[in-house]
Amino acid sequence: MSFKIIGTGSALPEKVVTNFDLAEFLDTSDEWIRTRTGIIERRVINNESMLDLAEKAALGAINSANLKPSDIDMIIFSTLQGDYVTPSMSCLLQKRLNAPCQHVFDINIGCSGFIFALDLADSYVSLKKAKNVLIVCCEILSRFVNWQDRSTCVLFGDGAGAVVVSEGESLIDIKFTISGNAEHLGIHPVAGNSPFSESDQSRKWLYMNGQEIYKFAVESITRDIKEALERNSLSPDDIAYFILHQANLRIINSAKQKLNQPDEKFPHNLERYGNTSSATIPILLDEVNRKGLIKNGDKVVLDAFGSGLTTAVCILNWIS
Ligand code: ACO
Repeated sequence: MSFKIIGTGSALPEKVVTNFDLAEFLDTSDEWIRTRTGIIERRVINNESMLDLAEKAALGAINSANLKPSDIDMIIFSTLQGDYVTPSMSCLLQKRLNAPCQHVFDINIGCSGFIFALDLADSYVSLKKAKNVLIVCCEILSRFVNWQDRSTCVLFGDGAGAVVVSEGESLIDIKFTISGNAEHLGIHPVAGNSPFSESDQSRKWLYMNGQEIYKFAVESITRDIKEALERNSLSPDDIAYFILHQANLRIINSAKQKLNQPDEKFPHNLERYGNTSSATIPILLDEVNRKGLIKNGDKVVLDAFGSGLTTAVCILNWIS
């Protein structure tokens, strides 16, 4: 266990889509979306590619680490799907940055992807197979939601968050739960036209049983955080910030109440960006970091849940 985060970055598409914009073509309202989710607006890709967004977030993280792209020797790219099925986004980003990487790969673990990527980076850095690992989480959910389905499309947004990870002693704990289950949340593959297939090959969209995922999230967040704190003889009072997956403000508020902690320890930005899947935590981390809120020696909890179904929790001792 031997890494620390030495730089953060993020990038959002320019196009802002408000709840009022959605209410122009959907049977919904700003009042419903705001009170049920906390979301006020989200960013949606217009003419940018995922690679454009990822490059911007990556350069932000590299600059904030006081490094150059030529210092990056590994890229882990978390996404549900890149600009292409193949080549991978990590390969394309390596070329865009002209980074002399030995290792690049994409991971698809849904919303928990950032914390899984941190765990992978920890392994490579610990084994000295990499020195400066760039993690980029970039998601374009607007490609997968059915824009006629008010129960899902209002929840999501597009965006990218990035960090650079290097050798250090930040990691206190990291843990995951995994239960292969596509019943309540998933995205079907793109349409095919094989003349030999007997399954339905028409284009399908993101589907979600919101209430089941809500229950899963509310239970798992406090359970995972409490267990991680106990394993390390810590209490919620010892934590400076809880950076939680940004899916629904009611889910964040429930964790806050159950952990009996004040508002200011739970920064959030889902009101501006919606749920950007694996990008939510690194985007928020970048905002908090750039505001100078996290101080050297602060203990920070990261916690995510999502399709898989997976949960992920991580406690860091922030070193700046
Ligand atoms: N506008 C207006 N009405 C709506 C909308 C909308 N956008 N969406 C649903 N409704 C209606 C429903 O049709 C339903 O109407 P009915 O009572 O006449 O049948 C009513 O509102 C209530 O619907 P519920 O689904 O019960 O609403 P709920 O309070 O559960 O909120 C929500 C739904 C916001 C999706 C909530 O369940 C939730 O946040 N779940 C967790 C979602 C989540 O975390 N997803 C991310 C996980 S993984 C990832 O990030 C990829």
